[in-house]
Amino acid sequence: MIAGILRETGNENRVALLPCETEALRKLGLEVMVEEGAGEKAFASDAQYISAGAVTAGRKEILSKSDLLLTVNPPPGDDISSFREGQILLTVLDPVENREWLERARLRGITVLALDLVPRITRAQSMDILSSMATVSGYKAVLEAASRLPRFFPMFMSAAGTIKPARMLILGAGVAGLQAVAVARKLGAVVEVFDVRSAVKEEVKSLGGKFVEVEGAVEDAAAGGYAVEQTEDFKRRQQELIQQRAAASDVIIATAQIPGKRAPVLVLKETVSKMKPGSVIIDLAASSGGNCELTQNGKTVVVNGVSIIGKSDYPSAMPADASKMFGNNIINLLKIMVDKQGSVVPDMSDEIIKGTTAVHGKEYVSPRAKQILEIKQTV
Ligand code: NAI
Repeated sequence: MIAGILRETGNENRVALLPCETEALRKLGLEVMVEEGAGEKAFASDAQYISAGAVTAGRKEILSKSDLLLTVNPPPGDDISSFREGQILLTVLDPVENREWLERARLRGITVLALDLVPRITRAQSMDILSSMATVSGYKAVLEAASRLPRFFPMFMSAAGTIKPARMLILGAGVAGLQAVAVARKLGAVVEVFDVRSAVKEEVKSLGGKFVEVEGAVEDAAAGGYAVEQTEDFKRRQQELIQQRAAASDVIIATAQIPGKRAPVLVLKETVSKMKPGSVIIDLAASSGGNCELTQNGKTVVVNGVSIIGKSDYPSAMPADASKMFGNNIINLLKIMVDKQGSVVPDMSDEIIKGTTAVHGKEYVSPRAKQILEIKQTV
């Protein structure tokens, strides 16, 4: 079988597979074609892909010859007419944003594996692209905050006097939030953390953060480790406590999300007005509406001297290692899909494959995709 790596479009700097992981794919028995210049923005040259055993080609040729296509983002709508029935595409789908794109792909008869739908179970941890990319985001968010803040992060005792450490508030202790706690602590900041899942309390503590609890959070064991919508009373009490803590903070890193829903608004306009001028808010939930009322996705707004940075694309800003992690996750997923002859055979009885397959055989498959898209159809 032939696997094709497409060049990303728009502002995306990552590539689905770097040369090293291309070699791993060839070891699984696949031939690999790479679109010319696909790795350029992630600092991988065509020559490196060729040394790894791949051949380079133009987009049209790859689209027509590949049995398996690998991309970071869904290829533009124009490519759909070049897809052929039975082709398999692995991509980060974002099913809500790309609902119409997915419907067109389904009607075309291609199989779409949505890497953002990989079930959050132990066996799938090595395939979890969301976790890998959240790791990059948490790390970069802290570094950006440190470079923008007009103060030091660590405490300093110098001949010029004592400098107090920066105070950071982290909203949401998922993968990005916990990474942010770890990096901020290494840089010497004092870190406080809010989350609605009590399970993360110990993890926050073990990384040196202080967990701030709001009593009465709704937790649902059936939500697969994710957060669920909170009651109005809880939201009000949480916003009040966040306002109190925000006034004492220099940096807020906001990461709180609820899958398939708008991100919870945790930092109100009024809260921002209580923060010190020069403070920084990095809102990683920007693409799903933001945790701060004033966030604008992809923009930096300054209100009362507080910079609010709406940023959901940090992984693209660190394309070499982000692509490396992305590619490793893909290889780990393909390991359970490729047979001894090097053919990709999606086995729908496997919980991971079924959960990840958005459409196959002109049907919607993944129960989560169907739930998110509110599709009643049963397969
Ligand atoms: P996420 O990006 O969906 O959300 C980030 C964090 O925000 C979560 O910790 C969530 O509880 C929190 N949050 C949501 N609403 C909030 C609110 N109103 N106030 C405060 N915090 C709020 O989460 P992410 O990083 O994708 O991971 C969520 C969980 O999924 C993990 O902690 C883990 O339990 C599970 N997971 C399992 C994996 C596996 O087993 N393969 C891999 C990765 C994650």
